[in-house]
Amino acid sequence: MDKIVVLDFGSQTAQLISRRIREIGVYSEILPGTTPAADLTADPSIRGIILSGSPASVHDADAPVPDPGIYDLPIPKLGICYGLQRAIHDQGGRVGRSERREYGRSRVQFSTSHELLAGIPDGFVSWMSHGDHVDSLPAGADIIATSQHGVPAAVDLGRGFVGIQFHPEVTHCEHGTDILRNFAVTMSGAAANWSMEGYVEQAARAIREAAGTVPVLLLISGGVDSTVVAALLLHALPPEQVHLMYIDTGLMRKDETVEVRATLASLGAGNVDVVDAESDFLSALAGVVDPEQKRTIIGDLFITIQEREIASRIPGDYFLAQGTLYTDMIESGAGVGKHAHVIKSHHNVRSPLVAAKRAAGRVIEPLSRLYKDEVRQLGRVLGVAPGVVNRHPFPGPGLAVRILGEVTREKCEMLREADAIYIEELKRRGLYDEIWQAFTVLLPTKSVGVAGDSRKYGYVVALRAVVSADGMTADVYPFPTEHLLEISALITNRVPEIGRVVYDVSSKPPATIE
Ligand code: XMP
Repeated sequence: MDKIVVLDFGSQTAQLISRRIREIGVYSEILPGTTPAADLTADPSIRGIILSGSPASVHDADAPVPDPGIYDLPIPKLGICYGLQRAIHDQGGRVGRSERREYGRSRVQFSTSHELLAGIPDGFVSWMSHGDHVDSLPAGADIIATSQHGVPAAVDLGRGFVGIQFHPEVTHCEHGTDILRNFAVTMSGAAANWSMEGYVEQAARAIREAAGTVPVLLLISGGVDSTVVAALLLHALPPEQVHLMYIDTGLMRKDETVEVRATLASLGAGNVDVVDAESDFLSALAGVVDPEQKRTIIGDLFITIQEREIASRIPGDYFLAQGTLYTDMIESGAGVGKHAHVIKSHHNVRSPLVAAKRAAGRVIEPLSRLYKDEVRQLGRVLGVAPGVVNRHPFPGPGLAVRILGEVTREKCEMLREADAIYIEELKRRGLYDEIWQAFTVLLPTKSVGVAGDSRKYGYVVALRAVVSADGMTADVYPFPTEHLLEISALITNRVPEIGRVVYDVSSKPPATIE
């Protein structure tokens, strides 16, 4: 499949560039900015190279530098912001430091016509975010367009290299997608044949080739990613070869276990093991109040139970399938993107079992090149029910991190009820799909209330609802007041132990979502 690679110099928008290219229908991947030119020539499917922006300046001593050999490759190249400045600097032009950052909307005036801007109206509004700017051009380079502040906005450096100072990948940039399409399809000649239907067959073939007749085991969490992996495995392999295991920690949402069973049955699953581990988890958590300690206890116990159960169910060789996403790969620095080194504190990452399986080449991760929204799209193509595909994220440690203070079975029951009422109401009111994540939190305090003629202490529940693109930052969902009042009344009426409902109005940062 034709491919456009994005060389990542640490830009916050490298992923966005790659996603926009995929939205155009051209497959795209992210590679470290310092990838050797020889590696790029070794992959004949690369039709174009995009050099991303960067928080660095070309004048910084530790600025990321591409292999100079890439400028000589006979593959079209597009430099965005730092990517442009880097090429100007490396090829003998001058990049100046500006007194003031040019940030936000800026009109772009054309100096000449160029394939990169074909079909784009002169004077379109671009989106700028840069401190440095192009001061003078290297020999053989031409200005294609200039920003309203007089800064070169698009430059042709010759030898198949074009550069732009603005950011076509952000939604505020008018015609940004058209400009990226001009580069990827017209200038690079990449075929726009990336589709989810195509991906399903490609991924199924890869799974069959990797697994042969060896059993494949997948741990199901009830969330979107593991469910979609299950659907893909069941599409690729005979049902008896696919072993699905669900560990019920007792910290799940209301009716979750029943729903997981129904979903897996609808996907044609044969081997489904539900492990009831509620008592193990609740006893391990008894008396623990620190949220990070709870996370560690749950993660460790999860691994212990997982290893024990697998050993008793699949005695011989097997593959372990995981719902790792492209963003997880990028964040864990698994050979993708910039020199990222953040390891997600997810229990799978710490699991010795996963490490051993990986070392033995026995891990299958069919979502590892997909973004979250693409996973949802894949789920739809595979016939996973919309209610599952569009579900809000749910943390691995489940209700334990939503019960502040000690976790007990009674508190879990109470929170499950309150949460179910809240979520059902959001769905009934048509609000669920507008919200990125919504849930209830049980606070570690009780407050005085009135019940009939007497006063009593009741629990306090906080409602949370946030809008976000990726969970990294989040805004509070601005509920019309009547919804909050009505949902609060329903919760206190139906769950008598709860005497008070509050709404958490903190954004992230400074707060977290959970
Ligand atoms: P925070 O609370 O960090 O949440 O703003 C960001 C996203 O991560 C989820 N989250 C977790 N997921 N294990 C997980 O698997 C955890 O310990 C955990 N803590 C938070 C949270 O639900 C949100 O989607």
